[in-house]
Amino acid sequence: MIKVINVVGARPNFMKVAPIVEAMKRREREFTPLVVHTGQHYDAAMSDTFFSDLDLPQPDVYLGVGSASHAAQTAAVMERFEPVLIEEKPDWVLVVGDVNSTLACALVCVKLGVKVAHVEAGLRSRDRTMPEEINRLLTDQIADLLFTPSADADNNLLAEGIPAERIRLVGNVMIDSLIKHLPRAQESDTIRQDLQLNDYAVLTLHRPSNVDDLTTLKRILEAIEEIGKRIPVVFPVHPRTKKMILELPSIERLANTVGLWFIPPLGYLDFLGLYSRARLVLTDSGGIQEETSVLGIPCLTLRENTERPITVTMGTNKIVGTDTEKIVDAAFAALAETAKPAVRIPLWDGHTAERILDALG
Ligand code: UD1
Repeated sequence: MIKVINVVGARPNFMKVAPIVEAMKRREREFTPLVVHTGQHYDAAMSDTFFSDLDLPQPDVYLGVGSASHAAQTAAVMERFEPVLIEEKPDWVLVVGDVNSTLACALVCVKLGVKVAHVEAGLRSRDRTMPEEINRLLTDQIADLLFTPSADADNNLLAEGIPAERIRLVGNVMIDSLIKHLPRAQESDTIRQDLQLNDYAVLTLHRPSNVDDLTTLKRILEAIEEIGKRIPVVFPVHPRTKKMILELPSIERLANTVGLWFIPPLGYLDFLGLYSRARLVLTDSGGIQEETSVLGIPCLTLRENTERPITVTMGTNKIVGTDTEKIVDAAFAALAETAKPAVRIPLWDGHTAERILDALG
């Protein structure tokens, strides 16, 4: 029997861990899964609803670290995770993605000699000002087993001197969740109906480089105002972004702009239901670049780089940056294009969790 601690911390972790835990429960003779939630995200909209939406069992252990500076948050996860590891003595710890909880737990494992596997390894934006890039680089250096979503990630790891025996190309586990939940999400379709919208764009923003700097945030929102004159834009606002938007002098005008819908952050199913029927998505999220690629929905990435280049070469993603005019031009160009069929990316097929389990077993 293989005992595995599956770590979740922040919003983008839940849809990656859910299919893995589900597969472990299906193979209960081989695996005993535990779920540890660090509590990096704690608001109901950023955490709780994801458990029910994704059929993820309630965490066995909740560390309750909450928000803090990066150092304090990382340190708190380490301090609180260490006794859990000593008590539970798992055969493997599985960490996913690139949030602070990912690196913090991987580090605790290595110090205690517990084997740790990193899911979504090998992605690189080559932008070391992004906190996630540091989390990715360091987690991949220390993890025992690296599960990659695409061949470009394998090449990044090999170029960093990581031996091929530690790398397994398994595909994109987040797409397991997407494939499983898409029918249910489209069936309920509540947000679109509430807002009474048929043709619309969706915006998400939460990267510190975009939202913590008011000048950049203003530049992006000016573009969105312009786009909103052509097509309604629905904007579920992340708590980090909300704090900053409230400081903008133009907040009143923005809030009253026809064609711009500020709404609270959505759960997994509501958000999937919403963006899977959008004409266009504008985002600075990594995961959404992948999900829109699989669904064949045009995606404009409001960043200067991406750690997921396959979404540009094979998918629907365009890297647009944060210049007002460039965003508007790219959006209008995308809206003028006729829809292209979704492309199949190798191994993004809904069976990645099974391949991960096969490699652990
Ligand atoms: C974190 C991840 C990022 C991921 C994102 C998804 C790191 C370094 N960043 O960024 O990679 O894409 O989650 O959302 O791990 N807050 C709340 N309620 C919550 C959580 C946060 O109000 O449940 C507020 C707090 O004021 C906090 C701020 O949002 O200070 C930022 O949260 P934090 O977890 O530090 O980073 P995110 O920006 O969410």
